[in-house]
Amino acid sequence: RYGLLPVLKSLVKLGVPNEVLEFLFGWAEEGSGYLRIPEAKGSIKAVRSEAFFIPLYELYLTYGGIFRLTFGPKSFLIVSDPSIAKHILRNNSKAYSKGILAEILDFVMGKGLIPADGEIWRVRRRAIVPALHLKYVAAMIGLFGQATDRLCKTLDAAASDGEDVEMESLFSRLTLDIIGKAVFNYDFDSLSNDTGIVEAVYTVLREAEDRSVAPIPVWELPIWKDISPRQRKVNAALKLINDTLDDLIAICKRMVDEEELQFHEEYMNEQDPSILHFLLASGDDVSSKQLRDDLMTMLIAGHETSAAVLTWTFYLLSKEPRVMSKLQEEVDSVLGDRSPTIEDMKKLKYATRVINESLRLYPQPPVLIRRSLEDDVLGEYPIKRGEDIFISVWNLHRSPELWDDADKFEPERWALDGPNPNETNQNFKYLPFGGGPRKCVGDMFASYETVVALAMLVRRFNFQMAVGAPPVEMTTGATIHTTQGLKMTVTHRMKPPIVPSLQMSTLEVDPSISLS
Ligand code: HEM
Repeated sequence: RYGLLPVLKSLVKLGVPNEVLEFLFGWAEEGSGYLRIPEAKGSIKAVRSEAFFIPLYELYLTYGGIFRLTFGPKSFLIVSDPSIAKHILRNNSKAYSKGILAEILDFVMGKGLIPADGEIWRVRRRAIVPALHLKYVAAMIGLFGQATDRLCKTLDAAASDGEDVEMESLFSRLTLDIIGKAVFNYDFDSLSNDTGIVEAVYTVLREAEDRSVAPIPVWELPIWKDISPRQRKVNAALKLINDTLDDLIAICKRMVDEEELQFHEEYMNEQDPSILHFLLASGDDVSSKQLRDDLMTMLIAGHETSAAVLTWTFYLLSKEPRVMSKLQEEVDSVLGDRSPTIEDMKKLKYATRVINESLRLYPQPPVLIRRSLEDDVLGEYPIKRGEDIFISVWNLHRSPELWDDADKFEPERWALDGPNPNETNQNFKYLPFGGGPRKCVGDMFASYETVVALAMLVRRFNFQMAVGAPPVEMTTGATIHTTQGLKMTVTHRMKPPIVPSLQMSTLEVDPSISLS
């Protein structure tokens, strides 16, 4: 039957309608089910359940790497096969758009880089990618350190007072503070302030997440927009954010005008290294609405994703004290009391593997969404234009066929001196940042951000699940959240005595007893 596949693909390319193909190939393989994508009998409840990717995993184990899920008139293709994912994301990416994702996110991201398709996406991607150059990311390491220091102060107080802390919301605040400075040079200072603009950001984020799992788009009803108190609150929040962004754009434009500007590839303004400053200095010819859409997109893309990675990493570490001790040992020996620098990123190998492994077990987002723009062939199945597709990264990352002990948190599965795992060297069975032309633009930024925060926190504190903490269960919007937070007990670590290395042998200090 695979012998017919090239013929089938050529006929699809020639534009032969699917009905004809089905007739021809169905006849050739009568009764074999060839060409018919396995159909899962789903119930709407399954996909509306709190973490909808869990029932999709069960269905994957039954129906395999591609199956169709139908609810009344709506149907989705669920893809959990690396070669089909590679085809959609990379080899034939031009034939796919962001589909429902663009519709859901329109109210907040407009034509920003994540939802945009076609020419707008191409132009904006070409403008934005250069802004995240190596020198910029290196400068951001200092910012990651300062922001994590502020979080350490909050934790210092909690540890001294013996108060438990809810880490998920603290990570969300940490990454909001970082992304605000990094993208448009704005200090949300959300660790100590949660009114006004910070509240507005959360209102809009929650709305985006709720819309992404809502069965009926009530917000599209004309009267609803005006009378629903919730929609009015969302609109007011959006207005506040947009006005703030307009002010920041205006301030930045003035700075750029006053600057003796010599724009070059690795351009960066030392006082304001933000992406916005780079874009304005590059002479990026763009409407203020598009610029706002892009800034908002990066704010959202780079905020909850990194926060979720840190949340699940600390959850995983709390279950595996062995991994935590090994991690703390590496951080002590690489950093001591210093703040991390770009050079340390290469040396914090185990910390990087911990993040790689956390991203495997808890991919953010757990599914990637696409819509076919033309007829195509997925694996051995022809599909029509207009199919809504979910690529389940969760399924790929936890497939028992693709991984040994798939559910086990084992950073050692990634060799310390091996290449950093990515979609290319793992042949699309591992997609922490997507793949192909729509791959994340912030992958290096996010990797360093999470490694810096992880290293600085485990250097100073021990973390344990709080006694009586609610069970940690998953729910999902765009990223995987906990249902009731991640309540932890944080205690100070005892610092190892700083002893000049020459004296070490004479004093015979055993470094292992100096750590709590
Ligand atoms: C796209 C993951 C952090 C900006 C993506 C995609 C993934 C992803 C999987 C592909 C989406 C798709 O194909 O549909 C992550 C994770 C992060 C992270 C796990 C943190 C650990 C960031 C940061 C930024 C960012 C910090 C900004 C500085 C973007 C943008 C896109 C994107 C703009 C859209 C790219 C395009 O469509 O051309 N991200 N991301 N992300 N990410 Fe990230």
